[in-house]
Amino acid sequence: MKIKNIIFPSSLFKKIFYYKSLDSTNNKAFSLKPTYEENFIVITDQQTKGKGRYNRTWYSPKNENFYFSLALFQPKMEYHQLLILTSLALLQTLQLYNQKLRIKWPNDILYTHKKISGILIENEFENSILRFSVIGIGINVGTDFSQNKELKDKAISLKYITQKKIKKEILLNQFLKFFEEYYTRYEKYKNEIVHEWKKSILYKNKVIHFKIDKKDIFGILKRINNDGSIIIKGKNIESRYSFGEVQ
Ligand code: BTN
Repeated sequence: MKIKNIIFPSSLFKKIFYYKSLDSTNNKAFSLKPTYEENFIVITDQQTKGKGRYNRTWYSPKNENFYFSLALFQPKMEYHQLLILTSLALLQTLQLYNQKLRIKWPNDILYTHKKISGILIENEFENSILRFSVIGIGINVGTDFSQNKELKDKAISLKYITQKKIKKEILLNQFLKFFEEYYTRYEKYKNEIVHEWKKSILYKNKVIHFKIDKKDIFGILKRINNDGSIIIKGKNIESRYSFGEVQ
C-alpha cells in the first residue's frame, strides 16, 4: 500500500500509522491512544486477530483486503450517529464501484446478500459521554471467496463485482472525503444523512430473521427510526431494537 498517495494532512486526521501486520487495527488504535491527542488512522495489510461484531473473527489474509481504523477523540455525537454516518460514507464510497450495494441494518454493506464490508465501532465513555471511538472498517477487496467453504455464501469481494481497478489508497481517499464531510458537518446535514441511510437499508417490509442475545426473532422489518433503531412486527406486537443482527 502506498501511504504517500493518501491525501494528508486531512482536516480531521493528523496522523496515519501503517503496519505490515497487526493483531487488529482496532486494538492498535487503543494502544496508541495514550501517546496522541489528535485523531489518527491505523492501517495494516494483514490482521492475525481481526475482530468482527459479536466476538467473531474478521477474515484478514495478507494483502488481499483492506483493514483500517479511525481513532476519534471526543466525537461530539452519539454512538448511533457515528454508526449511521460511517455506514453511509462507506456505502457511498463502495457505490462508486458498484451501484447495487446496499446496507443491511445496522451497518453491513452487502452485494446481493453477501457481505463486502463490515464496521466495528468500539468506544470509551465517561459519564455516558463518548470520549474516544475507534471505527474499524474491513473491506473485502480481493479475496476469492468462492474457494472458501465457510464464507463462500456469505462474503464477496469488490474485485469480483466491479470492472474498475481497485487501489486501496484511492479507496481510502474516497472514503475519507465522504466521512470527513459528514462528520464535520453532521449537525447541519443530520436529517439528510439519516434519510439517505434509511433509504439504503435492505429488507424493508420483508420478513426477516433477527438475532438478539442468542434469541431468534422472525417478523417484518416495519420501520427504521431516526435514532437508528428498527421496529420489527411479530405476530401481534411491534418491538423496537437498537442492537441485534439481521441474519
Ligand atoms: C463485522 O461486520 O463483524 C465488523 C468487521 C470489522 C472488521 C474491521 S477490519 C479493521 C478493524 N480491525 C478489526 O479487528 N476489526 C475491524
